[in-house]
Amino acid sequence: MQVGRDVEELYEAAKKAIVNSYAPYSKFRVSAAVRGGSGKIYTGVNVENASYGLTVCAERVAIFKAVSEGERFVKDVLVYTESELDKPVAPCGACRQVIAEFNPNARVIIADKKGIKGVYSLKELLPLAFTPDYLIK
Ligand code: THU
Repeated sequence: MQVGRDVEELYEAAKKAIVNSYAPYSKFRVSAAVRGGSGKIYTGVNVENASYGLTVCAERVAIFKAVSEGERFVKDVLVYTESELDKPVAPCGACRQVIAEFNPNARVIIADKKGIKGVYSLKELLPLAFTPDYLIK
């Protein structure tokens, strides 16, 4: 799939970051690269735990890194896996909700070793999202 230089940068960042994935239980390595409102890129990997339910997905790690560095807007989220399936590996529901907090129209890019598998708007992946404007007046 033909994409712009901005997406290529996210792809390279996520591809590099996947070596740090901590997935001893599932062996399913995931990385993510997020473009914050400032234009800066933040990466994340999935971090599993012996108490399985405490596992955190790569997307959320990347977003929390961005927010803790001062970002309040997420332009793009690229998810990278080593899946060999043809089907794109899309972010889980919890991650979709966390993305929506920082931009319900974020661009979500799904990628693997072979390249970009799909480009979506979060709106398609999470229609009628529960967003901060319900709470913040
Ligand atoms: N995982 C992610 O990091 N992101 C997703 O969007 C889906 C799932 C991780 C969590 C767990 O470490 C492994 O993939 C298998 O579920």
